[in-house]
Amino acid sequence: MARILITSALPYINGIKHLGNLVGSQLPADLFARFQRGIGNEVLFLCATDEHGTPAELAASKADKPVAEYCAEMHEVQAKIAKGFGLSFDHFGRSSSPANHTLTQHFAGKLAEAGLISEVADRQVYSNADGRFLPDRYVEGTCPNCFYERARGDQCEECTKQLDPTDLITPRSAISGSTDLEVRETKHLFLRQSELRDQLDAWIDSKADWPVLTTSIAKKWLHDGDGLQDRGITRDLDWGVSVQKGDEAWDGMEGKVFYVWFDAPIEYIACAKEWAEANGKDDAEWERWWRTDKGADDVRYVQFMGKDNVPFHTLSFPATILGSGEPWKMVDHLKSFNYLNYDGGQFSTSQGRGVFMDQALELLPSDYWRWWLLSHAPESSDSEFTWENFQQSVNKDLADVLGNFVSRITKFCRSKFGEEVPAGGAFGEQETALIADLTKRVHAYEGHMEAMDVRKSAQELRAIWVAGNEYLQSAAPWSTFKTNPEQAAAQVRLGLNLIRLYAVLSAPFIPDATDKMMAALKSEDRDWPSDVAAFLNGLPEGHAFAVPDVLFAKIADEEREEWQAKFSGTRD
Ligand code: MF3
Ligand code: ZN
Repeated sequence: MARILITSALPYINGIKHLGNLVGSQLPADLFARFQRGIGNEVLFLCATDEHGTPAELAASKADKPVAEYCAEMHEVQAKIAKGFGLSFDHFGRSSSPANHTLTQHFAGKLAEAGLISEVADRQVYSNADGRFLPDRYVEGTCPNCFYERARGDQCEECTKQLDPTDLITPRSAISGSTDLEVRETKHLFLRQSELRDQLDAWIDSKADWPVLTTSIAKKWLHDGDGLQDRGITRDLDWGVSVQKGDEAWDGMEGKVFYVWFDAPIEYIACAKEWAEANGKDDAEWERWWRTDKGADDVRYVQFMGKDNVPFHTLSFPATILGSGEPWKMVDHLKSFNYLNYDGGQFSTSQGRGVFMDQALELLPSDYWRWWLLSHAPESSDSEFTWENFQQSVNKDLADVLGNFVSRITKFCRSKFGEEVPAGGAFGEQETALIADLTKRVHAYEGHMEAMDVRKSAQELRAIWVAGNEYLQSAAPWSTFKTNPEQAAAQVRLGLNLIRLYAVLSAPFIPDATDKMMAALKSEDRDWPSDVAAFLNGLPEGHAFAVPDVLFAKIADEEREEWQAKFSGTRD
């Protein structure tokens, strides 16, 4: 039994995610986790909310709530929706957890000990009324270029000019509105990533099986232009992990927190500790997943993320780990995704454009979405959600191919043989050919799933469903029955066993349908069909079943049009 550690990029806390976010990391990570568990491997699948940084503070203030309260609430909301989509995290943690505070401060201490952190003096806007330094985007004022009155200290949204807060005419605090501002001397910490360039370079070179997309992004950041720049890892915010070296104070860093991209990936590790704590396990149990000196050297670690996250996962986070000099497990395989577009444009959180996870679940059960999203995952290029395409693939793949197969076989059997697996007859040439074909296809499916080729996996699974349908069509037990009921019994028996095969194979994609199929077959045995021929004899003669309710309802044209209209604008 292999051990597989799986993490999905951590969703930002500031609102409910859209379907593009979902298919870019959490959903394919879940597919992989379910598959790995299905074939019998030991899996630890972790995800968490990414709760620090300016966006979290701004979202909280927009919602008119203290930031801690806002994050606690949004975490629950996201956790509930994740459950609704069947995301099978072993733990859904929080980057604001005590475990992550401690571990982030620990890493900072180690990096400082290793001489990899420098303190850089800077001049920054200080608000006397607010009693704090203001990040650039917390300073507002009039744009010197276009005279827009609500320009931000980092950029004018009106004319897009990049700004420094000191460029603004009549600057004021975005927090209190106060104009009692001054420029003060302050210090920030920088991680000296450039010192780690050779180590990172060698580490990336050791990853011969990484996709070119991934290595080329990493190499470009390593070598182009100024190469790997030292990176500021502290910010002037209230909300976050306060800057400390382990549990010691850090001189001159009072009131500052670590930059969100410094602490967020550390939560991948801290989340395992949260998992252990939540399940009454001791430290050894999470450390065997993360510490190579404590058993993690035989763990295979796979990360899922959108392409914009790649540099942070190939360079910044590895720099943190390598720089610590401690034996932490590093990523083995990194699966990244392009973007999913929405109906001729982009999904947009800030504009509320597209379908958001909560809305999707109000329209249809999660399997419908899972199937469409995964079978159209933006792997080799961006892909696009359209309502027509969604309707078509639900109606064809799920309703006509899979759903119809299950319903025809179970109903036909009930009417001719009763609600149990019929006895008698034997498999002939056609059945042997089908079993040989399926054996090949199941292996191909396993190969694609193992390689995390999401679309190819979906195609192969669909082909497996189609093969059963075609068999049923040509074997036609309803005709056979008239002349040779024994042979019809064998055909139906195979059909019922095929349902179980579909149930087990489809579980990573459409887990709820799997549950329904298994319940109808009154079977609990979900062992992976490594031997397809044996598996298709698994349901014994006389085994009772029940005809299930319709697995997938078709989407009518009127429904599609209604949704299309409803989701054509923006949210709120
Ligand atoms: N919240 C980030 C995003 O949505 C991803 C953070 S991943 C982690 O782009 F590595 F930082 F954890
Ligand atoms: Zn402007």
